[in-house]
Formats: sequence, C-alpha cells, structure tokens
Amino acid sequence: MTDSQVFTVVCDIDGSSHTFQCGSGQTVLAAAEAAGVALPSSCCSGVCTTCAAVVTEGTVHQPDAMGVKAELQQQGYALLCVSFPRSDLKLRAGQEDALYEAQFGQYQK
Ligand code: FES
Repeated sequence: MTDSQVFTVVCDIDGSSHTFQCGSGQTVLAAAEAAGVALPSSCCSGVCTTCAAVVTEGTVHQPDAMGVKAELQQQGYALLCVSFPRSDLKLRAGQEDALYEAQFGQYQK
C-alpha cells in the first residue's frame, strides 16, 4: 500500500455537502480538517464514536475502530478519525446518535 493514491470524498454534514481529497494514508477526519471542513471529533483514536459516519458509497479501512461492532462496520458505519479511504467515498457524517442507537438501542427498550 502506498501513500500516493488520492481519493475524492463527498461528505454530507448537517444538510450541507463538502467535497475534498483524501490520500490513502490519511484519515478522512484529517483530510476534512485540512480542507477546512469541521466534522465532530473528540478522542481521535477510534474509541468515543463522536466522529461516527455512514459510508454510503465506497470502502474505508478502519482496523482501529474499536467503538463500532464488525456487523455495523459492514453496514457502513465508520469512525472517521481512524478511517483510511480505499476508494472514492460518499458518506454522511454526524451519525453518533444513529450509531449509538444501532449498537445499544435494543438494550434500552
Ligand atoms: S473521535 Fe473518538 S472515535 Fe473518532
């Protein structure tokens, strides 16, 4: 894997859409920050889920996403602070509440 690939990320947050470039060796969160796109984040190490997003097109590599169950990763949930792009991406950021509901909602009803 080289760092030389650059992918295009289209990110929706709070009803607006941002497009920026993200290298294969860069996290989506870092690329967003570099592009001046403010996305929610806190721990930046894959634990707190503040940066949760749903990837609607494309794939990310997120081996350190401890805060998201494998089944939910397969459904598209990603922690952007530890997500590296493997293709062009479309995603919805700001999904912390949705992720929480998907992971823990069944225990609260
Ligand atoms: S900022 Fe905490 S999991 Fe990404």
